Amino acid sequence: MKNGYFITLEGADGCGKTTQAHLLEEYFQNLNHSVVLTREPGGTPLAEEIRRIILTPSKEPLTPLTEILLYAASRAQHVHQLIQPALEEGKIVISERFIDSSLAYQGYALGWDLNLIGDINKIAAGGLEPDLTFLLDANTERSISRLNNRLDANQTKGDRIESRGYAFQEKVRQGYLQLARHNPRIVVIDTTTKNIQSIHAELIHWVGDRLSG
Ligand SMILES: Nc1ncnc2c1ncn2[C@@H]1O[C@H](COP(=O)(O)OP(=O)(O)OP(=O)(O)O)[C@@H](O)[C@H]1O
Ligand SMILES: [Mg+2]
Repeated sequence: MKNGYFITLEGADGCGKTTQAHLLEEYFQNLNHSVVLTREPGGTPLAEEIRRIILTPSKEPLTPLTEILLYAASRAQHVHQLIQPALEEGKIVISERFIDSSLAYQGYALGWDLNLIGDINKIAAGGLEPDLTFLLDANTERSISRLNNRLDANQTKGDRIESRGYAFQEKVRQGYLQLARHNPRIVVIDTTTKNIQSIHAELIHWVGDRLSG
């Protein structure tokens, strides 16, 4: 039985998930809620190991099914070790990415079977779904330029997914928007021209609305 509240942040690379996740965490902490901030793929030591395998470029390509199953394996570990127990303790869990990421990236962007991905992930997550999902939507040029600024600042080359380029990022974006059209759990926040604080204010508004409703 869960009695906490599960919030996920979704969106293409560089859309601002990490930034907003930290602000939300701070907001709830100031209200004296217990908050667990986590991310996928990863979230527990073993799940982070799986993340490393998925995201590190290697000579041997990951087959699509391997990639889908690794994400699902990482998620199973994350849900059962961290998310579900925290929800059972009544905590607010904020995760950067969850099942919607698999549907947007492996499903809509890479073209693998959406039903298959959905089924595998239902098993992996034991049927757990977020209570509320924010889709941070930005036009793809804006996301890529944010990402490039950050990559330059960190002097890193980007991982397997971030280096897939504009067309890929655009497919991810459209996939997410499609998911949101079919699911009232997903709130789309247009972040293209908004600053960090005003996006945060919008998220707080929605959280208040959903938690009290
Ligand atoms: N609304 C905004 N306006 C301008 N810059 C922003 C905005 N939100 C985030 N940024 C900046 O864009 C960059 C990417 O943000 P962030 O790391 O939060 O995105 P992300 O979605 O977590 O990325 P990733 O998918 O790679 O984890 C950071 O340098 C961040 O400071
Ligand atoms: Mg991030």
